[in-house]
Amino acid sequence: MKSRFITFEGSEGCGKSTQSEMLYCYLKSKGLRVVYLREPGGVKLSEKIREILLDPESKISPEAETLLYMAARAQVVRDIIQPALKAGKIVICDRFLDSTIAYQGFGLGINIGIIKTIGKFATLGIKPDLTIFLDLPVKKGLQHRCNYKDRIEQRSFKYHEIVRNGYLKLARLEPKRIRIVKVEPDKLTTQNNIRKLTDAL
Ligand code: TMP
Repeated sequence: MKSRFITFEGSEGCGKSTQSEMLYCYLKSKGLRVVYLREPGGVKLSEKIREILLDPESKISPEAETLLYMAARAQVVRDIIQPALKAGKIVICDRFLDSTIAYQGFGLGINIGIIKTIGKFATLGIKPDLTIFLDLPVKKGLQHRCNYKDRIEQRSFKYHEIVRNGYLKLARLEPKRIRIVKVEPDKLTTQNNIRKLTDAL
């Protein structure tokens, strides 16, 4: 069995975690060896960095924010993603390097060339075989976040619009890898559209 690396991307409240977990269960039920994780997170150090990054009390510069996301990524790639792919497993990751390009690059104005260079270092050059971009209008997504909002979710509507448009630009640049899946009102319909792409892979 050849390894496959599948990532999920999307703006806030698009249902990415639900959809990626549903895909994980589906592939497991087929008897495949699948590893599932989220970014930032997946290992102790990266989960600690996640807490700092999402804490509304944290005061973090755009540069430090970019490097913290990269540090969290570097650890999970070394500890989990690279070994799993080497062992021929399927890895599903809820967010990856495209998130940094969208949120810190397009969103905060960090140079995208620099993000890609540091990204190559942090990911050990590992690239997803398939990236599912779950697309939902920002207004609808943010409606799902009415109570507690983390540090990133608290950013303006305009910021989140720029992030979404950034993702759409990335998808236009790499249409074979980044596939846009529209978020449907019925989550099973969305899931079936995702499965069509992963089954083909
Ligand atoms: P999540 O809400 O999908 O779990 O992701 C955590 C938050 O971190 C989300 O608001 C997106 C943001 N994020 C970035 O800004 N840059 C990154 O590189 C990653 C992985 C996430």
